[in-house]
Amino acid sequence: MESTDRISAGNGEKRDVVDGKGLTNNAISTALFKLFKKNGIPTHYVCEGSNEFSKVVRKAEMIPLEVIGRFIAAGSFCKRYNIPSGKVFKEMTIEFSYKDDSLGDPFISKTAAAYGLDIASEETLDDIENYAFYIGICAQDFFKEFGLTLVDFKVEFGIDCETGELILCDEFSPDTCRLWDKDGKSYDKDVFRKNLGNVSETYKVLLDIVQENK
Ligand code: TMP
Repeated sequence: MESTDRISAGNGEKRDVVDGKGLTNNAISTALFKLFKKNGIPTHYVCEGSNEFSKVVRKAEMIPLEVIGRFIAAGSFCKRYNIPSGKVFKEMTIEFSYKDDSLGDPFISKTAAAYGLDIASEETLDDIENYAFYIGICAQDFFKEFGLTLVDFKVEFGIDCETGELILCDEFSPDTCRLWDKDGKSYDKDVFRKNLGNVSETYKVLLDIVQENK
């Protein structure tokens, strides 16, 4: 699996190439997937790849769900419920959306996913939810050490083609989560989405932080 320097937002309406992004995303995602594995979360990660952009992963049949965990209100949550960004939740919240760009990835309940669309069994969706909670806690601790607050994140799961096991797939990177410093400054893809500054420099800062603490 290779991380590239390509970046897009708004269903591909906004696109660019960001120098060094692939390197940063691969380094962060690899560090986190190793941490998840150490903490008992089954993942697709096998080992580092032949270059700094890649990793070897297990083949999986992807479950068409985006699983979104939130600690703090931001992004679409604020728009949907008309609340200010920055509200700290009492507990992490988990939402599911049905992964289909042409439909705009609509939100879906566990029972609608299980019994309406036959996406996965209710037991598998319960496992996904439990894993997502644990992933969120692990990632929150990981970024806290670097002085960054994990605001929210998106993860995806699949079924291991060989073993039939539910595994965490895709990536966990600044492209798929929100990270704020103590002043609320973004260190993630929002810098690109919302034109908040130099995107390449932001990803470079993140790479330096992770490499220094390796
Ligand atoms: P949202 O606030 O736009 O719903 O995003 C919630 C989290 O999910 C945020 O960390 C960014 C991430 N995300 C993706 O990784 N891919 C996507 O397509 C979307 C919409 C969000």
